[in-house]
Amino acid sequence: MTTTPPHDTAPRFFGRRKGKPLRQTGRGLMESLLPRLAIAEPAPGQTLDPAALFPASCRALWLEVGFGGGEHLAWQAARNPDVGIIGGEVFQNGIASLLGHLERDGATANVRIFPEDVRRLFPALPDACFERVFVLFPDPWPKTRHADRRFIGGANLDQLARLLADGGEVRIGTDDAVYKAWAVEQMAARPEFEELSSDRSVKPADWPQSRYEAKAIAQGRAPLYLRYRRKAR
Ligand SMILES: C[S@@+](CC[C@H](N)C(=O)[O-])C[C@H]1O[C@@H](n2cnc3c(N)ncnc32)[C@H](O)[C@@H]1O
Repeated sequence: MTTTPPHDTAPRFFGRRKGKPLRQTGRGLMESLLPRLAIAEPAPGQTLDPAALFPASCRALWLEVGFGGGEHLAWQAARNPDVGIIGGEVFQNGIASLLGHLERDGATANVRIFPEDVRRLFPALPDACFERVFVLFPDPWPKTRHADRRFIGGANLDQLARLLADGGEVRIGTDDAVYKAWAVEQMAARPEFEELSSDRSVKPADWPQSRYEAKAIAQGRAPLYLRYRRKAR
């Protein structure tokens, strides 16, 4: 019988953890590179200094939630070597894909990976530690009965508002009709954020294409690119 430890109050994760069996290269990276970059799951009540995860001092810390294949994260890491980027992802094939990008680019020093449900990391992190948070093409869960599984909303926005520094930015991309309206509404309801995008269909130059975004565009769906500033506390 599987038991849940009494301290385990993290919400359930409903997405996929595994896809096709990893190829030899992916398996190798998961065994050799991931242990060097992985953030261990914090114990209950533990606090973590995210800056101390990186070997050199960083001018800022960024977080990417659900980085998928890691195209966006790897691009940002290569172009912003003085920023420490933490990526959270549960999908093993996505983590292996990010590791492949990082190894090819030689950009591993400023990336750390939480290979689990990122919500399990949140309680250990200090207030105002991130300058940027990316939530790109989150699983849309379009059925109304699954609305509480959508990442943008409720307790997750409480955490993002807490973790973002004053003036920090959250970027949300989505191509799903239901999620577009949902994300705009959820963010508009939060007093901690103000919208930065004047045209939601336009993407800033420093927002590279992710795998899901490319797929959506190829299938004829026009994404929204939402940007919000964390107001001063
Ligand atoms: C639709 S995919 C988008 C991936 C990527 N951002 C992109 O744009 O290509 C959503 C990803 O978020 C991940 N994800 C969803 N909830 C998560 C959570 N709580 N913690 C970590 N990863 C999560 C899923 O495993 C999935 O890979």
